[in-house]
Amino acid sequence: MLNFKIISECETTKARAGVFETAHGPVRTPVFMPVGTLGTVKSVSPEELLNAGAQIILGNTYHLYLRPGCDVISRFSGLHKFMNWDGPILTDSGGFQVFSLAKLSKITEEGVNFQSHIDGSRHLLTPEKAVEIQRCLNSDIIMCLDQCIKYPSEREDAKDALELTTRWAERCKKTWEENARNSNALFGIVQGGMFKDLRELSANALTEIGFSGYAIGGLSVGEPKDIMLDIAEFTLPKLPASKPKYIMGVGTPEDLVELVARGADMFDCVLPTRNARNGQLFTKNGTLNISNAQFKDDTEPVEPGCDCYTCRNYSRAYLRHLYMTRELLAYRLNTIHNIHYFINLMERMRAAICEGKFETFRKAFYNERSEQR
Ligand code: GUN
Ligand code: ZN
Repeated sequence: MLNFKIISECETTKARAGVFETAHGPVRTPVFMPVGTLGTVKSVSPEELLNAGAQIILGNTYHLYLRPGCDVISRFSGLHKFMNWDGPILTDSGGFQVFSLAKLSKITEEGVNFQSHIDGSRHLLTPEKAVEIQRCLNSDIIMCLDQCIKYPSEREDAKDALELTTRWAERCKKTWEENARNSNALFGIVQGGMFKDLRELSANALTEIGFSGYAIGGLSVGEPKDIMLDIAEFTLPKLPASKPKYIMGVGTPEDLVELVARGADMFDCVLPTRNARNGQLFTKNGTLNISNAQFKDDTEPVEPGCDCYTCRNYSRAYLRHLYMTRELLAYRLNTIHNIHYFINLMERMRAAICEGKFETFRKAFYNERSEQR
């Protein structure tokens, strides 16, 4: 499954460019996956996503299982037809969302028992069930059920969580082999908190089980940035070089550049979409807040030279007006630009890696950000 091929590797960093195959087409890496939690990337259509350059999007097992439910989505043979996105989809397993959203969740060897944040109903999410739900969504990349711990955590708690995550990963693999291995890939998730020896244990145990790709979870949970980068830098080389490596829930444009330099291939984050809805727009010189009075009569696009739909057609003054009047179009136009920015950043990194110029790109990236707008 996936058949990941490395096309080019940077000579001075660990950055690499590759491609893998899914049942819904190829994905070129490094790649950023816009977050479509509820079967929609908030405020934009699949067509707009494609035009912004999206190759693959992320959906959430926890949300889709609760609403609208697998019975509805299986009528459409999966999430693709239901939401009219024909490209690849990766789904998160639900573990992380249960811990952050559900009430009164209780973890046992069997799985996680939780109360819906919508209607208070009780559910048991087991590793087997997490794979079955994702299979029902016909997700191209299924994620194992894992236990993500808070930051900071005691070593004992981090150890218990990673060992449970490993046992759950074995059960996920078994269910996947029985039901889903033909058209859906399965990724394992490394845990272990901020403890390097535990991260190594987790990476080794998952590699032993064997997955189509590997994710590093439990990052960007409140730890300082240097710790996040240090743990990722330590863990990435412990995973098989021949498989895609995915850093979950990260990050800022700087994080993406630094993590690609350390050998990461895949990312997802709500930053471009969530911040778009709060008026924060990403540009090569840094972020701007469109509500700022300085944009009141600014006839320039958000980012001169950007070829996204928003920048080709609208001024900062108009976007500020839409935002200040809470017009719905503001969310859509801001989201289109931010998604385009993140995806274009990945494409620029990929091109630089392929041309043997990743270090040059990295320097230029930081130089542009320190320039005055
Ligand atoms: N998204 C961000 N971090 C995590 C994690 O640790 N586990 C899962 N399943 N999803 C995540
Ligand atoms: Zn733009």
